Amino acid sequence: MATPAQIEAQTPTDFLPLKGTDHVEFYVGNARQAAYFYRAAFGMSLIAYAGPETGQRDRASYVLQQGKVRFVLTTALRPDSEIARHVHTHGDGVRAIALWVDDARQAWIETTSRGGRSVQEPTEFSDAHGRVTTASIAAYGDTIHTFVERTHYTGAFFPGYRAVEHDIVARPVGLLHIDHMVGNVGWNSMNEWVDFYARVMGFSLYQHFDDNDISTEYSALMSKVMANGNGYVKFPINEPAEGRRKSQIEEYLDFYHGPGVQHIALATANIVDTVAKMQQQGVEFLTIPHSYYTELQHRVGKVDEPVEELEKLGVLVDRDDEGYMLQIFTKPVEDRPTVFYEIIQRKGSRSFGKGNFKALFEAIEREQELRGNL
Ligand code: FE2
Repeated sequence: MATPAQIEAQTPTDFLPLKGTDHVEFYVGNARQAAYFYRAAFGMSLIAYAGPETGQRDRASYVLQQGKVRFVLTTALRPDSEIARHVHTHGDGVRAIALWVDDARQAWIETTSRGGRSVQEPTEFSDAHGRVTTASIAAYGDTIHTFVERTHYTGAFFPGYRAVEHDIVARPVGLLHIDHMVGNVGWNSMNEWVDFYARVMGFSLYQHFDDNDISTEYSALMSKVMANGNGYVKFPINEPAEGRRKSQIEEYLDFYHGPGVQHIALATANIVDTVAKMQQQGVEFLTIPHSYYTELQHRVGKVDEPVEELEKLGVLVDRDDEGYMLQIFTKPVEDRPTVFYEIIQRKGSRSFGKGNFKALFEAIEREQELRGNL
């Protein structure tokens, strides 16, 4: 079977060494209630809070964690705030993809000297638990990258946050870490952003897909996956491609009102168990037709998981030279058809499920049709 073009990251000197994703910050309309959804449905634990009670007058932030996945949900307390404006324009969505570094000031210098636009100069925050330094640069749309240096910080999250000791709501489902985060950008903009990640952040092309790989009867898209030097951070970038009807990427751009994060892929070591729990806790996933599973064994060969189990849950499978991977996609988690999640389990394969694109996009189009957006 065809294997995606894989290009190893070979940066001789990595000018932006990343230790991984520190957290993802969402701007939302009602952080208290959004936090409840991620705790009850995704099983994340509330570990820290900042708001008026902690001296933060204009916003409230809830920090949620499961494994190494850390989300911050932030809402505005006043109308005249950049958070309120972000929510007004985009609905609930990702504002900051925060990357963990040893030296935030250096990360900011290296990226801004290569053409990155500064959003926040290096700033130090401290409390009794130590110091955290952050700095931010602009990415696609209103999305930013924040560099977080927290080397000796021993508090729950950031200075100014109050630790939450025990979460009685959280029902963990085995989520381990972020596998990749996908950005949707506008028509013919993919290469501009691929160039941004290469030039400003020192990333390399990891895999790419064209509209022959990713098209159905109706709609198409193009995608390139950029990865940092050690491969811990992977950002696929999608742009819409011409099809007979509206691409899922166009639908996103219309409702998000511009480029932004499309989906976050969360890794698990047992996708059958994780997805069964999430479904029980009310997370809605895309459904896959029976025919996909009758052809599955023929397409990918033997897999450890019983095919009946995979079909019952709607889990997709793809194989390459190195092994196989299992994946499933939620429906959008807001009323606007924008951000959704992927749950992924890798068993050797480093692919992004190219063999599933057709089945997956047909499932997405069935949902687009129901929304009247196809
Ligand atoms: Fe993905």
